[in-house]
Amino acid sequence: MNKIIAANLKMNLSYDEILNYKKIIEDSNKKVIICPSNIYLDIMKSDKYDIGSQDGYYKDSGAFTGEVSFKQLKSMNIKYSLIGHSERRHIFNEDNDLVALKLKSCIENNIIPILCVGETKEERDNHNEFKIVKEQIDSALSNIELNDILIAYEPVWSIGTGVIPSMEDIENMHKYIKEVSNAYKKDIKVLYGGSVKPDNIENICNIDVVDGVLIGGASLDPTNLVNMCNKIM
Ligand code: PGA
Repeated sequence: MNKIIAANLKMNLSYDEILNYKKIIEDSNKKVIICPSNIYLDIMKSDKYDIGSQDGYYKDSGAFTGEVSFKQLKSMNIKYSLIGHSERRHIFNEDNDLVALKLKSCIENNIIPILCVGETKEERDNHNEFKIVKEQIDSALSNIELNDILIAYEPVWSIGTGVIPSMEDIENMHKYIKEVSNAYKKDIKVLYGGSVKPDNIENICNIDVVDGVLIGGASLDPTNLVNMCNKIM
C-alpha cells in the first residue's frame, strides 16, 4: 500500500522522550511525517522522515506573543503544517476565517498544509456532516492559489475517543471531500484521522479513497507507530 502516515504528537513528550522517539523512527526507515511541539521541531529534523508543525500564525512577524509564523517555520525548512486541527478550532476558538488566513500564509511560505476538517457529534447527529465539511473546505480553499496540499478528515467525535465511523461512512466522506476539493485542485490526497490504532489501521487504509492516516494518541509511543507503519507501508 502506498499510503501517507502523519503523526500528531500534540502537547506531549519530554525532551528526553523526544530524543528517544527520533532514534526509533530513524532506525525504522519509515518515511512518515512527524508533527511534534514547536520547541522540538529543530532537534526532530531528519533526512529519514518529514517534519511538520501543528499550527502557525498568519502574520509574518510582529507583536504576537507566544505565536510562531509560517515565515519562521519556513526559515527552519519545515515541510508540512497542520492547519485548523479540531483542537485549534474547538479549544482555541479558531473559526473558518482564521483557518483560511493561516492556510494562505502557509502556502505563501511554501509549506505544505494538512488542512483538517470534520464535524462534531452534534453536527453528525443532525445529519449536517457533509454541509459542515463543505463549508470548512470552501472557506479555506477559495480565493487562494493552491500548490501542494493535503486534507485530513477528522470527525471531532472520533478524536481521542476510540470510536471511529463505519468504513462506509469514511469512504463516503472521503469521496465527498475529493469531489468538493476537486473544484479547487485536482487529485488532492485525503487522510483519515480519529482513533487510528494498530487494530483498525489496515481496514481504514484498505479503503481506496483513503490516501493515508493522521494518528494522534497511538503515535506517542514510537514503537507503536513503527508497528502501524509496518502494517501498511
Ligand atoms: P487520535 O488523534 O488519533 O488520538 O484520535 C488524532 C488527531 O487529533 O489528529
